[in-house]
Amino acid sequence: MTVHIGAAKGEIAETVLMPGDPYRAKWAAETFLSDAVLVNEVRGMLGYTGTWNGHRVTIQGSGMGMPSLSIYANELIRDYGAKTLIRIGSCGGMQEKVKVRDVILAMTATTVHSPSSSIFREVNFAPCADWGLLQAAAKAAATRDVATHVGGIYSSDVFYDERPDLNEQMVRHGILGVEMEAAELYTLAARYGCRALAVLTVSDHLQTGEALPSDQRERSFGDMVEIALEAAFR
Ligand code: HPA
Repeated sequence: MTVHIGAAKGEIAETVLMPGDPYRAKWAAETFLSDAVLVNEVRGMLGYTGTWNGHRVTIQGSGMGMPSLSIYANELIRDYGAKTLIRIGSCGGMQEKVKVRDVILAMTATTVHSPSSSIFREVNFAPCADWGLLQAAAKAAATRDVATHVGGIYSSDVFYDERPDLNEQMVRHGILGVEMEAAELYTLAARYGCRALAVLTVSDHLQTGEALPSDQRERSFGDMVEIALEAAFR
């Protein structure tokens, strides 16, 4: 048991999938895991442990934004011994070629600021995905009927953005999509020698204004969960 996770030691698997939304953790655990057991409900941030193809997996909500994810990822790694952490979440598309429903595998995560920024002082640390996981996820995605993009994303601190010029610079520099968690996850994984990846579904598009209708979300999010699970155990 930690400050924010009520699970007993041993109840968290070495492989953890982290959706932002705790109810998506519940849905993914009930849909994709066998024998899923609720292991955390502190603050309603649901976490489940079960098995997928015989492998133990935990699916733990991270909450929205890097400060929230940082709390859960720190405790999962430092107190429960998590070794592989894969964010599964939504993002906003930033390039014309990136369409709503597509999947993005985040090779790098650019950020203005993260909970870890202060330790780097004048250095701009480059948070990047684990290469083995990224490669495995690209292979898993290639077998599915879902358009997949591999490249840089932008981890923003804000959803309601008062600095649209930042998004413009990201678009100009080929950034595929915007979300709010991956940069801190990649930084923590680097610090503690873990593997991390963000597998994202494009839920809305910054240029076109298109958004995924709620009745179509489940199917696209399913591809993302399966890609993450296959990548973790490939
Ligand atoms: N901005 C930030 N995070 C997001 C977005 C967005 O447009 N869409 C989904 N997550």
